[in-house]
Amino acid sequence: MTHDNFAQRRTRLAQQLGPHGIAILPTALERPRNRDSDFLYRHDSYFYYLTGFTEPQAWLVLTGDGQSTLFCQPKDLEREIWDGHRLGPAAAPAALGVTQAFSVAELDTQLPKLLENRDAVWFPFATHAGLETRMDGWLGKVRSRVRYGALCPEQQRDLCGPLDEMRLFKDASEQATMRRAAQISAGAHIRAMQRSAAMLRAGQDVREFHLDAELLHEFRQHGSQYPAYGSIVAAGANACVLHYRADAAPIRNGELVLIDAGCELDGYASDITRTFPANGKFTGPQRALYELVLASQEAAVAATRPGARFTDPHEASVKVLAQGMLDVGLLNKNKVGLAQDVIANRSYFQFYMHRTSHWIGMDVHDCGSYVEPAEVGQVSERKDPLSGETIKDRPSRILRPGMALTIEPGLYVRPAKGVPEQFHNIGIRIEDDAIVTEDPKFKGCELISRGVPVTVDEIEALMRG
Ligand code: GLY
Ligand code: MN
Ligand code: MN
Repeated sequence: MTHDNFAQRRTRLAQQLGPHGIAILPTALERPRNRDSDFLYRHDSYFYYLTGFTEPQAWLVLTGDGQSTLFCQPKDLEREIWDGHRLGPAAAPAALGVTQAFSVAELDTQLPKLLENRDAVWFPFATHAGLETRMDGWLGKVRSRVRYGALCPEQQRDLCGPLDEMRLFKDASEQATMRRAAQISAGAHIRAMQRSAAMLRAGQDVREFHLDAELLHEFRQHGSQYPAYGSIVAAGANACVLHYRADAAPIRNGELVLIDAGCELDGYASDITRTFPANGKFTGPQRALYELVLASQEAAVAATRPGARFTDPHEASVKVLAQGMLDVGLLNKNKVGLAQDVIANRSYFQFYMHRTSHWIGMDVHDCGSYVEPAEVGQVSERKDPLSGETIKDRPSRILRPGMALTIEPGLYVRPAKGVPEQFHNIGIRIEDDAIVTEDPKFKGCELISRGVPVTVDEIEALMRG
């Protein structure tokens, strides 16, 4: 990503602020972990999107005329000996293409001046603790000068609105980074699968953390800065806990392992799930459920194309899963009826309780409205068959080229009365990352995470060693 990419984004955003508008955007705070150690620092995604700057203690101010001001840590030789290089305000305009830069120590004196005579101030609502209070302080200073003829912004607007919409459509350089992130993550899944089978073959005690270590090794080996989220490595029944984290449970011969892990590369996430037999060979019941989830994913992939709605892939997977649940005996048709009843009554929810997709980008659950903006006023009501609640629906987002989303159906079978024992404690999810495209090389979406096999035969072949 070049300095021009960021400058172009700032220009596009500035055009949406109004000629007398101003936007104020901080990066993320540093967060203490324990005593004097901080959590590993991660910049704010919106801030990075507009600057490419990853140092903490930085702010961007953008005005409707396209001028940009960066506040950043001042040069400080002593602090730089301890904490590392700082760009500093003198070098920032040339390095980042911003109009001007100040030390962050000048924020409280400069911001009231920058806010004066603007009609609207934009900042991200409800995302940065304490920001509203600081904004009140700066606006209070502007107001105290009103009697000398200063104008104080009359409108406060949520900067997330225009930024979310911009971030929803990934440009070519973002797509390239996401492809590379997904490729690294795919390699990490392969490595973990092979290691699981190899350790079991060698008679070793395999734990979830062993496979977690393999993932991390592969991520870092290829330049990823960190995992995009806490890796899930779930052995056996742990796969039925949706937000399980890699822990110390033993990985046993005959059980499945669910790994949901993806690296972050240069600010962009990947998000892949594979479920595989610990020893490399699916049992009959494992295979039956796996093939069902895979068929539901294929249906969802086929439904992911420009012009379709965001909810179409979900509906496509639910349709396949509902019929499959009846076919394999997870649900009893004498009790729940036909597939259409299973869908209407949400009986499938016992085994499939999450949505099939979310946007992905700089944040693993990326920003962007799930409602079609032009149709936001079209509200319909329905009664949820399980909770009895009245739900207001708005038309789901229409998929367009450049949008990126995951496709991740699953089945999670907790032991319960009437559920065949052979399926108890099996948890399966298959997750890939897709970019919506009109490129005729693809049928509506490019799956960027298929560097790791997904079919039963391919997984078994990979794990044979
Ligand atoms: N890894 C989080 C998710 O799949 O949504
Ligand atoms: Mn996901
Ligand atoms: Mn995931």
